Amino acid sequence: MTEQPKFTNSKIGIDAIAFSTSRYFLSLKNLAAHRSVDYRKYSEGIGQLQMSVFPPCEDIVTIAIDAASKVLEKISDPDHIDLLIFATESSFDISKSAGIFVHHFLKLKPNCRVFDIKQACYSTTAALQMAKSFVQCHPGSKVLVIGSDIVRYSPGSSGEPTQGGAAVAMVISETPRIAYIEPFSGVYTTDIADFWRPVAATEAKFDGKLSAQSYLRSLGFCLEEYKKQSHCESNLDSFIDYCCFHAPFNKMAIKAAQQSFRTKDPTDSLIYNALIGNSCSASLYICLISLLDNCAENLSGKRIGMYSYGSGCVAEYFSLIVLDGYRNWLNPIENEEHLEEREEISFEEYEEICSGKKGNKNYKTSGNVALIEIVEGYRKYQAVIE
Ligand code: CAA
Repeated sequence: MTEQPKFTNSKIGIDAIAFSTSRYFLSLKNLAAHRSVDYRKYSEGIGQLQMSVFPPCEDIVTIAIDAASKVLEKISDPDHIDLLIFATESSFDISKSAGIFVHHFLKLKPNCRVFDIKQACYSTTAALQMAKSFVQCHPGSKVLVIGSDIVRYSPGSSGEPTQGGAAVAMVISETPRIAYIEPFSGVYTTDIADFWRPVAATEAKFDGKLSAQSYLRSLGFCLEEYKKQSHCESNLDSFIDYCCFHAPFNKMAIKAAQQSFRTKDPTDSLIYNALIGNSCSASLYICLISLLDNCAENLSGKRIGMYSYGSGCVAEYFSLIVLDGYRNWLNPIENEEHLEEREEISFEEYEEICSGKKGNKNYKTSGNVALIEIVEGYRKYQAVIE
């Protein structure tokens, strides 16, 4: 007989959370017109309305700095950050950690470990669980977890309308104010060629149908394991109050909810994603922010089921319990403004950005740091003052 896992009753979790995306977007109505596709395929079939597009002065580092500076504003003791984990699958350097640039611009203390991790869109969940274990072993420590990705597919490919990108930043502590992470989860790993990006390629390669099948199949395995681990004897519909799913496009998350639950409606969790597009490692956590910001019900004490899927593949189903007063630590108005104030670009500008040309437009970054040049593959960033 296998021994039952023993869980500690620590309540480590998310103390602060924020996101950032580009200042620019392409409307999918515009993309549909240029690709001669019925717009309803994108808006209803895929469930997406816009996608964030990143100009030459923005990359995974600049948006990560913006998201991370928003969370640092919410904590009084950044000196307690002893570890920064940067989760990404759109890394531009296979040696130096992107996290070091963030560490520099945020002026974090030198006595802080920094590294990047990768496993497709799953990596932020890996970072979160690792952060939890780190805090458990280092009482009083805080961990800054960042998930940042910009998703690019070939122009005209089936993946094109699901492009996007964003960064999410979270501070993980033993005294969280937003939600704590429950000790059980269901994990599923298998080798599958559904989505990958060779080192020199800027665009992902994928088998779209296989990836969607693998996403749903893995969810089934994860939920079975989650039920065992959590000793959930009732059905999951009554055990879990709300759901967030990794959302490569909204319809994928809706299908996941329909496959696994009878009563769960993920609509509130998908509001931001419909406008940002796929942000890979950040996506699930943008869904969490969207749910916390937009759900009219007070979520204090509620259990949120979280499904993380990273092609290749590793998947995990885990849960959070929302804490009293969580709304005091969110920024729903700023988040809405951040998305509403983005500038719509033309299809021609989108094509220019995709082709890597600089163009004449004076693009700006979302935060206070811009990518200014790349010399021998080395990226140089500069603080900008508006
Ligand atoms: N009006 C309304 N709906 C329409 C329509 C119209 N005129 N035309 C088509 N549709 C519907 C279709 O019926 C279909 O709905 P169902 O799935 O419910 O049947 C939906 O629109 C999409 O149509 P297709 O399946 O024909 O679309 P496609 O093959 O061109 O592209 C896709 C879909 C394969 C998922 C594509 O977006 C893709 O390849 N995406 C990239 C890979 C991806 O995101 N995979 C997700 C799982 S992997 C993962 O999660 C990791 C990650 O982040 C990438």
